[in-house]
Amino acid sequence: MLQINNLHATIGGTDILKGLSLTINAGEIHAIMGPNGAGKSTLAYTLGGRPGYEVTEGSATFDGQDLLALEPHERAAAGLFLGFQYPVEIPGVSNLQFLRESLNAQRRARGEEPLSGAEFIRLAKEKAALLKMDMDMLKRPVNVGFSGGEKKRNEMVQMGIIDPKLALLDETDSGLDIDALRIVGEGINTIMRKPDRAVLLITHYQRLLDLVKPDFVHVLAGGRIVRTGGAELALELEEQGYEAAA
Ligand SMILES: Nc1ncnc2c1ncn2[C@@H]1O[C@H](COP(=O)(O)OP(=O)(O)OP(=O)(O)O)[C@@H](O)[C@H]1O
Ligand SMILES: [Mg+2]
Repeated sequence: MLQINNLHATIGGTDILKGLSLTINAGEIHAIMGPNGAGKSTLAYTLGGRPGYEVTEGSATFDGQDLLALEPHERAAAGLFLGFQYPVEIPGVSNLQFLRESLNAQRRARGEEPLSGAEFIRLAKEKAALLKMDMDMLKRPVNVGFSGGEKKRNEMVQMGIIDPKLALLDETDSGLDIDALRIVGEGINTIMRKPDRAVLLITHYQRLLDLVKPDFVHVLAGGRIVRTGGAELALELEEQGYEAAA
């Protein structure tokens, strides 16, 4: 589904990704761990097409398409979803408006019929219930005044509604209380653990991985993947730290 080959990316002239290669097949859940500043968020942003992230070498294909040649909205319409480490606030636009616009823009780009208001509300209610999110929260402006954990849970409601093929989730577990962590973990499993879906989870902690059992765990250090293993690698890292593992 996603094939990244020798990816080099710079921000403001500084090299951050330095020859990163990674393949994610449909049906797989991958976790990326690694020290602060290693380039994990940079990888997510580069794949999402955030302005300022310049690819200087290498390639990334998504379902056989040249991902890097697509505009950010085209990447979303192709089925790529980004969950942010620091979700943005959008004053003046309600969550429901934002999500309906996003979903229908993507559906139109794929040649599908947009959802009617009633169909959309039914979908939003179903996903909000799955993530135990109060519908009143979805009527509020996007993330404005949300607590850290509420923003993360809101990201998962967005993911449920958008129903992407590939979700890149950047520290979705950070700041979640114990109950919210379980809800989010189960949400990821319910929404994304399917033969035609895939997930890349960026995380610092084992807790989420106990719930969303990854098929592969990678260590990203110095802008490239330095080690790959199974779920047990996360446990080893937790015990020994990155220096010993890399
Ligand atoms: N706009 C920028 N200009 C210069 N350097 C930047 C910029 N944005 C990020 N960097 C640098 O790129 C490096 C990688 O940052 P990135 O956010 O990808 O790390 P990370 O692996 O996600 O870390 P963390 O675990 O702390 O979230 C860091 O050294 C950071 O300071
Ligand atoms: Mg980061």
